[in-house]
Amino acid sequence: MFNNILKSVLATLLLLSVAASANSVDYNVLIKQAHQQYKTANEGKVADYIPALAAYSPDNFAIAIVTADGKVYATGDSDKTFPLESISKVFTLALVMEQHGSDEVLAKLGANATGLPFNSALAVELNPGEPQNPLVNAGAISTVSLVKAENKTERWHRILNNLSAYADDNLTVNEPVFASEMATNQHNQALAQLMLSYDVFYGDPREAVEIYTRECSVDVNVIQLAKMGAVLANQGRSPFNGKQLLNAKYVPQVLAEMAIAGLYDGSGKWLYTAGIPAKSGVSGGMVAVVPGKFAIAVYSPPLDRAGNSVRGQKVIRHIADATRASLFTHTQ
Ligand code: DON
Repeated sequence: MFNNILKSVLATLLLLSVAASANSVDYNVLIKQAHQQYKTANEGKVADYIPALAAYSPDNFAIAIVTADGKVYATGDSDKTFPLESISKVFTLALVMEQHGSDEVLAKLGANATGLPFNSALAVELNPGEPQNPLVNAGAISTVSLVKAENKTERWHRILNNLSAYADDNLTVNEPVFASEMATNQHNQALAQLMLSYDVFYGDPREAVEIYTRECSVDVNVIQLAKMGAVLANQGRSPFNGKQLLNAKYVPQVLAEMAIAGLYDGSGKWLYTAGIPAKSGVSGGMVAVVPGKFAIAVYSPPLDRAGNSVRGQKVIRHIADATRASLFTHTQ
């Protein structure tokens, strides 16, 4: 009698677990399948306007998912490092949001798509009151100038420590990339001077461009990048070190800026087709955040004309579809 009850309880449990696994997606299988499917996609071109970036292989390809509760899934070249480039802008924005609040960020940095390339001076000329958003170059350099610090060294260390806390690791600058970017960043210096001329800059333009260039040159691998995104998926708390890195009330505003401008002039099409906030960098990194669930990071250097990783977009769209992750999809 007791044995029969036990058997029927076990059978019910088995049925329940099969049903659960049919409904849920195995992230390990999903990323391996996406890697297999897109590894031969060969559109796009590796960035070369920063000479050091041209040396990276177009074949480098890695995918990681990190869940809001800290589970890590990775495949491909997950130990290869690449500079964060524009992805660093998201996390320095988060630091400034934490220090100044979302109203000041909106007033000083804005939340509008420019519809223009990421380094457009025309966008600054057309809107001399604000750089439009903190993720285009003008807004990101301005964001750096807003980081509270006594001096340049302290400002830089605050930014680097913040990036490291998100990655739950000690991140470092890729010095050859930094030197290469410093030798070729005249356009960014011009953007900072232009904003100063309109009185919408909050520090020393030369210093801000140097620190901005330094944050762009910080190296990560795809797992560290997905961990950074997972903090935003987990309401601003790191699932790894438990620190509340960003007040939960500001996370929606950071994600909104990513949705508005994370892929620059590709942002509208991205939101239309993938439906999740994401951020790209010209080194070929890309991170996307599904609030409450997970972050996806991809590394693949060939870029489209807007400066976004081609495979990165394909893979993240694929995963968003498979997990019904679009913010615009109704789920029970
Ligand atoms: O300022 C620059 O041009 C680079 N350090 C970063 C640009 C970038 O990553 C644009 N992203 N897709």
